[in-house]
Amino acid sequence: MSNVENLKERIAELKAQKRAIILAHYYTSPEVQQVADFTGDSLALSQKAASVDADVILFAGVKFMAETAKVLSPERTVLLPVPDAGCSLADSCDAERLAEWKREHPGVMVVSYVNTSVEVKAHTDICCTSSNALRVVQSIPADQPILFVPDRNLGSYIKKVTGRENITLWDGCCLIHEDFCPEGLAKLRAENPGVKVLAHPECNNSILEQADVIGSTADLLAYCSGSDDTFIVVTEVGILHEMQSAHPEKRFIPAPKRGGGCNECLDMKKVNLENICSALENLSPTVEIEESVRKAAEGSILRMISLK
Ligand code: 13P
Repeated sequence: MSNVENLKERIAELKAQKRAIILAHYYTSPEVQQVADFTGDSLALSQKAASVDADVILFAGVKFMAETAKVLSPERTVLLPVPDAGCSLADSCDAERLAEWKREHPGVMVVSYVNTSVEVKAHTDICCTSSNALRVVQSIPADQPILFVPDRNLGSYIKKVTGRENITLWDGCCLIHEDFCPEGLAKLRAENPGVKVLAHPECNNSILEQADVIGSTADLLAYCSGSDDTFIVVTEVGILHEMQSAHPEKRFIPAPKRGGGCNECLDMKKVNLENICSALENLSPTVEIEESVRKAAEGSILRMISLK
């Protein structure tokens, strides 16, 4: 048996022994997605974390995702195999600066993308993900000023779609999505006439204006079930694994980043079979959140989840 097969077998044993469940984001590597009990976009993963029947949740993803799971399931052990698996978007908003901004702008409602630290969520009125950002903003009265944190690209897309001028944007972005090359995408489109461009709203406007479909990882995946047989995909390249597994007969072309090549989030790739196995063996590293911060953050996530 290969080392990979051995590790997969050991992970299956440990999951049963420890009553553990593995939740994985679509951006993790294919072998990690293969050992996961549930793979999804950020919204589906947080809904799952709130409702799983398990003693242990191992989060195959980055820190803010595991924190969200711990906020929603404080009684469970939440494991993040690589504690420093971070997110440039989450790093672009600091809780202290947000608290100061709020003091200077009383009465403004804070809508935070789920890609934020638990401390930022503690200063947030309602969270959103890329799949429900529009619904979340539309649930807020039209005359209520909003601060959208931290993704200026998703925020300006929502601002454009809703036509709401009273949305202030935090100046953050995802360095991976920001790095797609608009000229490279235009060239790819010209070489593949009629092929639909699927883009994540974390991309900036020079990319989004070339897109046929804009949505979360799960939205883009769902679109692939339609009649088209080839797609240009403008988001982190890990999603291609799920797209290709669901549609082996179809063709998925990753959009190039500046300077060429595919766009990979190295933080999402930090989790691997070895560190999953070790985390399950040792029930460590765990995610721990101070209770007052957890409680303060919880409301913002529950408000999002309860929105129909
Ligand atoms: P979604 O999976 O919700 O589209 O979000 C992608 C992402 O930002 C992961 O960091």
